[in-house]
Amino acid sequence: MEAVLEIAGLQKTYRSRKGVRRALDGFDMVVEAGQVHGFLGPNGSGKTTTLRTLLGLIRPNGGRMAILGREVPEHLPAVAGQVGAIVESPQFFGNFTAWDTLSLLADAGGVRRQRVEAVLELVGLRDRGKDRVRTYSLGMKQRLAVASALLKEPKLLILDEPANGLDPGGIREMRTLMRTLSESGMTVLLSSHILGEIQLICDSVTIIAAGKRVATGSVADVLASHASSSVRVRLEPGIDLLGAAEILRAKGAQVDLGTDFFTVGNANNPAQITRILAESQIYVSELTPASADLESVFLELTGTAPVDGQNRQVDQVAAAGWGQ
Ligand SMILES: Nc1ncnc2c1ncn2[C@@H]1O[C@H](COP(=O)(O)OP(=O)(O)OP(=O)(O)O)[C@@H](O)[C@H]1O
Ligand SMILES: [Mg+2]
Repeated sequence: MEAVLEIAGLQKTYRSRKGVRRALDGFDMVVEAGQVHGFLGPNGSGKTTTLRTLLGLIRPNGGRMAILGREVPEHLPAVAGQVGAIVESPQFFGNFTAWDTLSLLADAGGVRRQRVEAVLELVGLRDRGKDRVRTYSLGMKQRLAVASALLKEPKLLILDEPANGLDPGGIREMRTLMRTLSESGMTVLLSSHILGEIQLICDSVTIIAAGKRVATGSVADVLASHASSSVRVRLEPGIDLLGAAEILRAKGAQVDLGTDFFTVGNANNPAQITRILAESQIYVSELTPASADLESVFLELTGTAPVDGQNRQVDQVAAAGWGQ
């Protein structure tokens, strides 16, 4: 497969009076043609910085980037016409309608006027396209932003948080839209915090933490390579859950207590659990492998799982979380 986007060893350091902040620390990413690629990472991990650097809005301190096989920022003028992007919430002029806004952008970008109607239809704004933007809800402004990025029928569409402010119906529509676009041959790169959504929509993902890539691949591969071997255990009603947990802990099991079940983390051989408990005349009524989802893999890899009694600060990552 051909890579539409390649980033290798990207470095970005912000300097201010308060010192130096390393936002990207040798970041790598590859997006193959025709894929919907999810870009995931906790707040402040460097997603927007990556996208802004890619689009030539800020200068990197090191590393290489290529879009459609051309090195950027050097060849950005040559590829810019094939890239549509929205990075964080773009601002629109409130007194203009969506139709005015898009027509202006179309004229400026040498795009046929017919395209305006087509993109309004695509993002679901057909019936509100002649209303002023200031009367729009957050989700409607977001749809307008996506419409503006689609005007020039880009080969690569880059969206930073496209689901931001959308209602569940809107999120689902956005998902269908991404699918349709990708089936038409467009490559889509989208950052999001809505992991269930990413899991449903993306062919592949890159996970970033503290400016470095911590995982990449198809969603299935990322899940499989970090699948937990944990199982959920239920006992017959009335049996002392805590007592059973203690028995297993004494044998070295990692046990997390739930309300009416417990989870054994390092359960490579679930038969051990039934055997150990049966020896104490405790019988298991249900033993289910806990399937890994993207959210738990994300929390583990980025070291951002909540810890009881602590208010995690944005730049705080658990050392084990990103393999250092
Ligand atoms: N203009 C700037 N000056 C100084 N530091 C900045 C600047 N922009 C971003 N940073 C810092 O760089 C790091 C990465 O920020 P970035 O906006 O790329 O994160 P993000 O992954 O997009 O986060 P979010 O999910 O919250 O949008 C953060 O620590 C942030 O404070
Ligand atoms: Mg961001």
